[in-house]
Amino acid sequence: MPTAAERAVAAFRAGFGREPTLRARAPGRVNLIGEHVDYSDGFVLPLAIDRAVVVAAAPGATSALRAHVADLAERDSFDAAAPFQAAAGWRDYVRGVAAVLREAGIAVPPADLAIAGDVPRGGGLSSSAALEVAVARALLALAGASLDPLELARLCRRAEVEKVGVACGIMDQCASILGREGFAILLDCRSLAVRPIPMPAEAVLVVSDSGTRRSLQSSAFNQRFRECAEASALLGVAALRDVPFGALDRLLPSLPEPLRRRTRHVVQEIARTLQTAAALEQGDLAAVGRFMNGSHQGLRDDYEVSTPELDALVAAARAQPGVHGSRMSGGGFGGCIISLVSRDTLEGFAERVAEQYRGVTGREAKSFAVRPSAGADVDAL
Ligand code: GLA
Repeated sequence: MPTAAERAVAAFRAGFGREPTLRARAPGRVNLIGEHVDYSDGFVLPLAIDRAVVVAAAPGATSALRAHVADLAERDSFDAAAPFQAAAGWRDYVRGVAAVLREAGIAVPPADLAIAGDVPRGGGLSSSAALEVAVARALLALAGASLDPLELARLCRRAEVEKVGVACGIMDQCASILGREGFAILLDCRSLAVRPIPMPAEAVLVVSDSGTRRSLQSSAFNQRFRECAEASALLGVAALRDVPFGALDRLLPSLPEPLRRRTRHVVQEIARTLQTAAALEQGDLAAVGRFMNGSHQGLRDDYEVSTPELDALVAAARAQPGVHGSRMSGGGFGGCIISLVSRDTLEGFAERVAEQYRGVTGREAKSFAVRPSAGADVDAL
């Protein structure tokens, strides 16, 4: 099976009849914990994974920016210098990134791009952030420009919020850009301060894909974003991050439902994230697992972004030997879960989880281990 990088280069040759001059790679991510708190200025603990979107690119022969997605056999072509015009699906991410770079004063050149990847699409592993970052890195390299990594993350997020129309936070873009081999990234989503936290060698993070999908736009994602803003306005704080954990019991009764439950999840999840980072540093994997399980409960009951399939998959994973903890990962409403599994019990995990999940839902689940990996990069070819 050719790698994503090989497929991107092959697609470039086939689509444009010449050789690409560079290749940009941006990884997907899993979030160990800190779910649905980035847009409340909270703390998150994601890691970049060994699956990525790759863009093979070269300066354009015409005034157009042309893009070709190898895996979908779909194309787009638009004027590199014109204002953003919405298209649909993946095209808006490419067009959106070109637009925000231009708005930031970068002379986005005409270019040819071929895109391939092995991040499952729409599965909660940030295929969209990986696409944004890979396209941005390719266009910046072709423009002979560079940006500070956090500025790059902000611009890619802006493409998603302002051009695509998903009110996402900044976690995914930061994880794809700042990832570090062997480490998770403790990110303060207010200051964007980063602390790398080493991942333990004796445990493996396993992703299990529920086989169900719901896009962020069509889900209640934007509604959750608004609910958090409403709750913080009622509580008189800039963001839910500013609600102290110790004041929860006193403050919650003043909020109407569902804002009360949403707030409880966010405040508790931020505390769990900081506790998880500390537990990882102390090598206390049992505690990490308990926090992961608590996170899933909050997402299911208070934040209401889980689904019966995700709950069944989490239950199947937790029933296996050597599993410290398991939770849905990413935006929710379908997609993937992650489990922290002892390395010495990994064998047969995927098959056993699939069997139990099939018995409950009649669906197929695919599990695969992920490695904490380096963030985005560009190679000249
Ligand atoms: C999506 C968004 C992120 C974050 C997660 C939930 O992945 O893009 O910004 O809000 O959902 O934690």
